[in-house]
Amino acid sequence: MIPRVILGIETSCDETAAAIVIDGKPVADRTTTQVLHEEFGGVVPELASRAHERLLMPAVEGVLRDAKLQVGDIDGIAVTYGPGLAGALLVGVAFAKGLGLAKGIPVWGVNHIEGHLWSGGLTSETPPLPFLALIISGGHTLLIEVEGFGKYRKVGTTRDDAVGELFDKAGRMIGFSFPAGARIDAAALAFTGEPVAFPRTRIECEPNNFSFSGLKTAVLYHLQRTYKRGEDGAFNLTEEQRNAICAGLMSAVGGTLAAAVRSALSQRDYRALVVAGGVSASRYLRRVFTEVTDDAGILLIIPPFQHCTDNGSMIAYAGYLRILNGFPPSDLKLSVDPAASLFSAAPLG
Ligand code: KG4
Ligand code: ZN
Repeated sequence: MIPRVILGIETSCDETAAAIVIDGKPVADRTTTQVLHEEFGGVVPELASRAHERLLMPAVEGVLRDAKLQVGDIDGIAVTYGPGLAGALLVGVAFAKGLGLAKGIPVWGVNHIEGHLWSGGLTSETPPLPFLALIISGGHTLLIEVEGFGKYRKVGTTRDDAVGELFDKAGRMIGFSFPAGARIDAAALAFTGEPVAFPRTRIECEPNNFSFSGLKTAVLYHLQRTYKRGEDGAFNLTEEQRNAICAGLMSAVGGTLAAAVRSALSQRDYRALVVAGGVSASRYLRRVFTEVTDDAGILLIIPPFQHCTDNGSMIAYAGYLRILNGFPPSDLKLSVDPAASLFSAAPLG
């Protein structure tokens, strides 16, 4: 019998998340973003682990309450084993294994990227195969050819920074707190004037690949050339000037992503483009991808906003798909893998 009620656990970075998915549909979801990292301008691994320890149990109890279920109703546990911060992943995996052992519930390890990749299926139809997936998050920028569950080929990646990383670093330079992606997105959309012109890096002979570190430097040079720093070291910018930078940044990122996606789409007859990961919450970029898929005449699937950034539902759902596709549980042999790859290792289980 296929396990129906799956508890999903996600603790790979700074979101402590648990969720219940029944028959592949989201039923309850609790995600706490650890705001304590804001003042450091980035995630502090040790603080993240300690916060996960504090927040995970209430999250699991909360989703069980929301779904009106008891622990005994859970048929399977899906937990992120990597990639991510080692200590943070350990909290989730140890919790999942402990609960599984105590209550006799099988545990499946889930790759975080695989969670993002299929997250659109939580609320819309499973994309037609083969499809091209663009994963854009704080740690990854990947173009993946997908032939089926577990059948992935890397067709593009970033040579340096991830898109979300660029947003978070550039955001810091213009005075936004961490993480900055959503604020840059909103500022870019609010701006109606002439955006600051930033270069779009294309890597010669590698049309599917990206590079974003030059853009980060370009933002810094623009700030140094144009504005004075105040006593606190921050650049003196008006809201209008900040918005013009955000609009320029979004335009350059959108152009770079669109060019690589168009290039990958031209290499094979894909039936859909799936965009997922935290940065896919960007309204600005959603417009860009709509234009690309309209031109190509293929379907565009982007998860609803609450399933773009890290969440437990996507992990529960990827676990459910693992089960449907015949992968045995990982159980006690499951360990964390901070550098887990979607491509090299044999699928876990
Ligand atoms: O997938 P995610 O939650 O965590 C990782 O796996 O990295 O992605 C987080 C990233 C951050 O860099 C954040 O700035 C960015 O997603 N982000 C956004 C938006 N919401 C979150 N970027 C652009 N527009 C948004 N609305
Ligand atoms: Zn993520």
